Amino acid sequence: MDKIRLRGGRRLHGALRVSGAKNAVLPAMAASLLTKDPLILENAPEVRDVSTMNRVLQRMGASPPRREGSRLTLQVPEIQSPEAPYELVKTMRASVLVLGPLLARCGRGRVSLPGGCAIGARPVNLHIAGLQKLGARIEVEHGYMVAEGKELRGAEITFESKTVTGTENLMMAATRAQGRTVLRNVAQEPEIDDLAILLNAMGGRVEGAGTDTIEIEGVEDLHGATHHVIPDRIEAGTFLMAAAISRSDVRVERCRPDHLASVLEKLKEVGVRLEVGEDAIHVLADGPLRSGNLLTLPYPDFPTDLQAQYVALMTQAEGTSIITESIFENRFMHVGELRRMGARIEVDGHSAVVHGGTPLTGAQVMATDLRASACLIVAGLVAEGETVIDRAYHIDRGYEHIEEKLQRAGADIERLR
Ligand code: EPZ
Repeated sequence: MDKIRLRGGRRLHGALRVSGAKNAVLPAMAASLLTKDPLILENAPEVRDVSTMNRVLQRMGASPPRREGSRLTLQVPEIQSPEAPYELVKTMRASVLVLGPLLARCGRGRVSLPGGCAIGARPVNLHIAGLQKLGARIEVEHGYMVAEGKELRGAEITFESKTVTGTENLMMAATRAQGRTVLRNVAQEPEIDDLAILLNAMGGRVEGAGTDTIEIEGVEDLHGATHHVIPDRIEAGTFLMAAAISRSDVRVERCRPDHLASVLEKLKEVGVRLEVGEDAIHVLADGPLRSGNLLTLPYPDFPTDLQAQYVALMTQAEGTSIITESIFENRFMHVGELRRMGARIEVDGHSAVVHGGTPLTGAQVMATDLRASACLIVAGLVAEGETVIDRAYHIDRGYEHIEEKLQRAGADIERLR
């Protein structure tokens, strides 16, 4: 299990370049199941979850993926085995995104239930209920979802609550259902809109992505396409927090500031100076950091995936901040590790009370999930002395070469093999 070691106290400079979005490339990869043709994804990040999704697709009969830099070419000429096994799904719950495309392409699928994960129970009941409304029969047995649905038919479906991958699963299944599907109370994240752009490039007829209602006219067949994956707004937000906590003057490049409106607003509120351009954000974090309360909510509000990084930042602010996590039930595991670095934080149910003005000291800490590990890197940049983060493989799931990017910007960070 490799580790990441960093020494705090250095300011960052120059530029931090953002890669393609993990949470956009994963549904896009699942969409390759919808056609026999090649699907070309540009700006596809080289992260662990992409490798896992490649293994899931190859298990079903996909040709070996071709990668040239950030261009990933996928093709599933024929589905030999419409199954996503437990040993893969348990390492990446986003594997459930293959269920909708499998039903659309070959009318059946057998996908392991993802089970819970560090941040919560994370059921998939909304995925199942939606696919059943399209006419699929889905039984849950021996830890698997066994789905049959030769002829999916369009339907009007209202999600009980917003689910990102649930929306994506239903979008992909409905593209080849007979007739019209209306999805209501859908997620509105930028990754949803990116998937709609891809599905339409493949010959699909998807309208309304980005609003709370999506309409889809089923089509007979879908063909290949070339699609440029949007930049990763969570990686960009992580870099903004890193720049803010280390009092840096640095540019976050190749990002979509319009995907980060709520984050930029919060950072300005707590005193971070930002110059926002077309595809870059210049951080000038030279003034005092003020405390700021936070409530995570579905897009377009502040994303849960940046909550942990913001908690780390608020340990350095003047005053006390109350941070409330409304999306997942157990997403404060980073607090225990931050406490070991000297943070003063109390967790009470869905809220954490962060007392600012606490100098952090380097320590041996353990990553528990992807974004908690990003939080520990943010904290380690300002902690006095050496921080060693164990189980660094968590960070590799969603950040492409993060230590190299931060090193190039001046951080004292390296990977210990
Ligand atoms: C996506 O997860 C992201 N992952 C998550 O990013 C992100 O935190 C989350 O959306 C934000 O909502 C990918 O896109 C691959 P949800 P997803 O369905 O789709 C409950 C990261 O760090 N729910 O929107 O799994 C669920 O338990 C990851 O990159 C049900 O109850 O999340 C949660 O409380 C972490 N039943 C809430 O809805 C369901 O059937 C939102 O979950 C589905 C979800």
